[in-house]
Amino acid sequence: MEKTLVQEMLEEKGFIDEKIDPQLKLVDEINRLKKEKNAVILSHFYVEGELQDIADYVGDSLGLAQEAAKTDADMIVFVGVHFMAETAKIINPSKKVILPDLKAGCSLAESAPAEKFAAFKAKYPDHKVISYINCTADLKTMTDVVCTSSNAEKIVQSFPADEKLIFAPDKNLGNYINSITGRSMVLWDGACMVHEEYSVEKIIDLMDQHPDAEFIAHPECEQPVLLLAKHIGSTTSLLNYVQKSDAKKFIVATESGILHQMNKSCPDKIFIPAPSNDSTCACNDCSYMKLNNLQKLYICMKHEQPEVILSDEVIEKAQVPIIRMLEISK
Ligand code: 13P
Ligand code: SF4
Repeated sequence: MEKTLVQEMLEEKGFIDEKIDPQLKLVDEINRLKKEKNAVILSHFYVEGELQDIADYVGDSLGLAQEAAKTDADMIVFVGVHFMAETAKIINPSKKVILPDLKAGCSLAESAPAEKFAAFKAKYPDHKVISYINCTADLKTMTDVVCTSSNAEKIVQSFPADEKLIFAPDKNLGNYINSITGRSMVLWDGACMVHEEYSVEKIIDLMDQHPDAEFIAHPECEQPVLLLAKHIGSTTSLLNYVQKSDAKKFIVATESGILHQMNKSCPDKIFIPAPSNDSTCACNDCSYMKLNNLQKLYICMKHEQPEVILSDEVIEKAQVPIIRMLEISK
């Protein structure tokens, strides 16, 4: 059947409207395409369990960037959000980087538009810039070193104690790092829509109901939430913590996708998602991460799009702070 003009326009922009035969075994097909195209599938801990299970590597933002840096695959399939796929492309300009849904953005990355950040940065000409990896490639071009939640403290401490620093775009992570390092970095006013939704009152109620549970949190949460936490860390750090802890029950303040790995690696332990302010929404789910599914993954691998395209200039400039981060994190 001939394609309509609208279909062609959508395909040009990376949207493919294709009916999938319901008999098709998607997992087998995806694995077949992976071999045929010498592709590697990298999935973040926040995507659906079946998308984590099909990945060659599942991890946090730092692990995924490190994996992208060392892959010898011809094509990287990024099952996560756009800034992660962009990072993989910046590290691998000659490889094809695709993602199942181009609309998988990030509220943190969107909270720091490049032009506004440039004006902000201009107010602090003697400051160096540390950017959380959850930002656009354009913002990375204005950055001295990128960091993730795993290595933020180490990256900040790699600067001399008297160095003046801007931290963007997550004010909660920046504030947390200021509190544990005694620095006073200037913070960009951005936050993650999932992590700022937790309710301190409801968490305290839940802790009262489960006195045997340990409360653990991601540093993207707001300070009052972090003050309650027994352990604060990146998704990998939270996962390692529950595996090592003697506790049998945990209240977890981060996106619900991580519970898949926690349940898988500790089937005898109980994981309770931390409650949000709004009990009517699935606030623990990142709606961007959850745009990924097996159908879209199959279609994107079959057609090799949507593809991440960046200009040579952006790649050249954004590569510098990412490579610096990878060097410091070795
Ligand atoms: P980490 O992957 O560093 O734990 O951060 C979580 C996150 O928000 C990714 O978008
Ligand atoms: Fe961005 Fe928050 Fe979703 Fe992570 S959980 S991708 S920070 S919106």
